Amino acid sequence: MTTATSIVLASRPQGPATLENFRLEQHPLPDPTEGELLVRVIWLSLDPYMRGRMDDGPSYAAPVALGAVMTGGAVAEVVASRHPGFAVGDLVMGAFGWTTHAISDGAGLRKVDPRLAPPQTALGVLGMPGMTAWVGLTDIAPMKPGETVVISAATGAVGSVAGQLAKARGARVIGVAGGPEKCVWATSELGYDVCLDHHALDEKALRAALREAAPDGIDVYFENVGGKTLAAVMPNMATGGRIALCGMIAWYSGQNFDEALPLPRVWSTILTRRLNVRGFIVSDHFDRSGAFAAEVAPLVMSGRMKLRETVTDGLENAPAAFLSLLEGGNFGKALVRVGPDAGAA
Ligand SMILES: NC(=O)c1ccc[n+]([C@@H]2O[C@H](COP(=O)([O-])OP(=O)(O)OC[C@H]3O[C@@H](n4cnc5c(N)ncnc54)[C@H](OP(=O)(O)O)[C@@H]3O)[C@@H](O)[C@H]2O)c1
Repeated sequence: MTTATSIVLASRPQGPATLENFRLEQHPLPDPTEGELLVRVIWLSLDPYMRGRMDDGPSYAAPVALGAVMTGGAVAEVVASRHPGFAVGDLVMGAFGWTTHAISDGAGLRKVDPRLAPPQTALGVLGMPGMTAWVGLTDIAPMKPGETVVISAATGAVGSVAGQLAKARGARVIGVAGGPEKCVWATSELGYDVCLDHHALDEKALRAALREAAPDGIDVYFENVGGKTLAAVMPNMATGGRIALCGMIAWYSGQNFDEALPLPRVWSTILTRRLNVRGFIVSDHFDRSGAFAAEVAPLVMSGRMKLRETVTDGLENAPAAFLSLLEGGNFGKALVRVGPDAGAA
């Protein structure tokens, strides 16, 4: 018998999420039965989609039930196994949730080879966020060399990969990020040609700065945030431009709706500029995993893809780290170190 410590959803947020929406609980886990394995979580991924799972409204995925363990991807070590496909000591990535231990029947698990890359990259650049960036620029809003690409949340888990991919493919790349420190990293390390700090610019100033940075218009917008950034981007879209609608984090808590453009203006811009706007959910594109890994894994392994992580220690600190992520407190991939490295427990 193992005792697992988990973070459960205590209540649904009314507006922005708070620490009171989470509760730490301990519960016993039975030993694995035939066909099951027991894992010890090492790394937990924090992702903006988790905010949506805290609400009860209609969405593409079911909400977390009240009292249930918060959903989330994690990298874990197998500590007991009665499953023929997994041995004690294997590292696996799966949807174990915000917990220290979990029982699994092996469905949906992916083995992680720590000799190829740090295991936690399976949650970031070589996992769901990295693949989101790749799918967005490859299949949803494909770009050609020489085109101008704008990426919002430019230094986050998705944006930092999208920016580097767009640059490697020959685009002129403009990032929008929150704060001077993030913008310095974007231009000095990630290769962005320009980075605009949305904290320092109101919508009008951001629109003017985008016009200056992209005088011939924006060919591709990788949309992560909505809010005033979207309002500033839309009038600067080039005729025939493409928008990969990936996320709209500025609106996830039901806030900032006053920053939205009126729908008739959005609609008429799409029409008159002949824009192609396409929303996507990365899980619909997992059949593209092979092509994604073939392009991105060599970039990571050779060090050409720059990585940054914001690591919080201890599962009990996951709620605060998650709230910080929603407010822009992270650089690159937001992670919680739940337990020691494999073999060190
Ligand atoms: N469609 C899909 O399948 C899919 C998959 C993964 C992620 N996503 C979406 O992609 C986006 C980025 O996800 P991620 O995991 O890479 O997160 P992230 O960018 O690492 O973190 C979120 C970032 O959003 C920015 N942000 C927060 N509030 C904002 C606001 N009001 N205005 C402008 N920016 C704001 C902050 O960056 P700054 O400090 O720079 O503002 C923050 O660091 C999210 O919208 C997420 O939901 C979609």
